[in-house]
Amino acid sequence: MLDFTFKNATDIRFGKDHIDHELYDVLADFGQNVLLVYGGKSIKKSGLYERVLGLLKGLNVTELAGVEPNPKIASVRAGQQLAKEHQIDVVLAVGGGSVIDAAKVIASAAYYDGDPWDLVLHPSLRFDIDQLPVVDILTLAATGSEMNFGSVISNPDIPQKKGTGGPNSPAVSFLDPTLTYTVPARQTAAGASDIFSHLCEQYFDNNNNEVSKCMIEGLMRTVIKWGPVAVKEPENYEARANLMWAATMALNGIVGAGTLNSWTVHPLEHELSAYYDITHGIGLAILTPRWMEFALNSNTKPLFARFARSVWDQYGYDDMELAENSIRRTHDWLKSLNPEMTLPDVGITDDSNFAAMAKAAVKSGRLATNAYVPVTERDAIRIYQDSM
Ligand code: NZQ
Ligand code: ZN
Repeated sequence: MLDFTFKNATDIRFGKDHIDHELYDVLADFGQNVLLVYGGKSIKKSGLYERVLGLLKGLNVTELAGVEPNPKIASVRAGQQLAKEHQIDVVLAVGGGSVIDAAKVIASAAYYDGDPWDLVLHPSLRFDIDQLPVVDILTLAATGSEMNFGSVISNPDIPQKKGTGGPNSPAVSFLDPTLTYTVPARQTAAGASDIFSHLCEQYFDNNNNEVSKCMIEGLMRTVIKWGPVAVKEPENYEARANLMWAATMALNGIVGAGTLNSWTVHPLEHELSAYYDITHGIGLAILTPRWMEFALNSNTKPLFARFARSVWDQYGYDDMELAENSIRRTHDWLKSLNPEMTLPDVGITDDSNFAAMAKAAVKSGRLATNAYVPVTERDAIRIYQDSM
């Protein structure tokens, strides 16, 4: 097993209604001036917005509304300005991964005098400055942003979508599965696909960390079981709760401890979102089986066969047959959740940007040198083309 360091200080409050009794005190411990960050209309429609404002009575609340899916740098810039103007003590993010991702970068930008895009491009800058505490109320199970150090921010003018890491994960995360009851079926499916992809990215890796592999297999089985239930029965508490905790566990650093390779499908998908602003999880659902087909060879066959046996309950002696079966099963499960399983399904009908996207993905993801199966620009173009 490889050496690693692991530290994660996020205080998790999991279950129904913790916010009603705990949110005020959690925030007031950090100070009186709260920057409330949220997305579009979903929290107003569900009543969560009114509920949270009611709980914040007595604190000075400044609002940043309208953080977009695939959050844009313009929202971070607006948040930076508000944080400075109102001497914010704590950022409260209410929403999905996009809102929490933006909140984390705003929390750093509050201490930065330049353009926050610098902090996205050069994460090391964030380690030299302070960061406001971030508290979040998660409304969508997918990214794991509620317990990790990452953010993904888009700059549509360039166009670029960049992952960036900061010094702190959220200080406190409220994970109430009932707040995800209103997530539409398509977005629930995208979330489950994202969780599954995070697990694949860390499983298909040349490490021999048996602890990670076994934990990931358990988490994959959980998502495979409960994802479709949550899509069909949005108010099934067990389904929503299992998805939510699986999302957090998939990307809080625990199962990734001691991994060796860089991720592959995420850099490829981030280019799809950068160019076409598509839903992250749906892009992953489209690319994952095509990447698996590319990645299966005589060296990777044993791990794919293990994936077939341990995750998909496939039995047999022929490892190649099992491995191919596991890819089919993965495709069929993703398809059962996501009606959009090709690039044309999400409106990408020509390949004119594929070369530029492939170049950017290979560079940002170090795919040619660090991926589990090395991916050249030509390979990346092929994976995009196979997804047409
Ligand atoms: O904006 P609102 O109105 O809130 O609607 C959102 C949005 O339209 C809606 N939604 C959220 N909670 C809801 C709800 N609708 C009804 N009821 C609720 N309870 O869902 C839509 C998508 O929200 P978003 O936050 O964009 O989704 P997600 O959590 O999947 O986040 C995706 C973003 O996270 C990045 C992705 O690239 C993408 O930009 N990622 C962040 C990661 C991280 N920080 O570690 C890792 C991931 O791999 C990922 O790259
Ligand atoms: Zn993801």
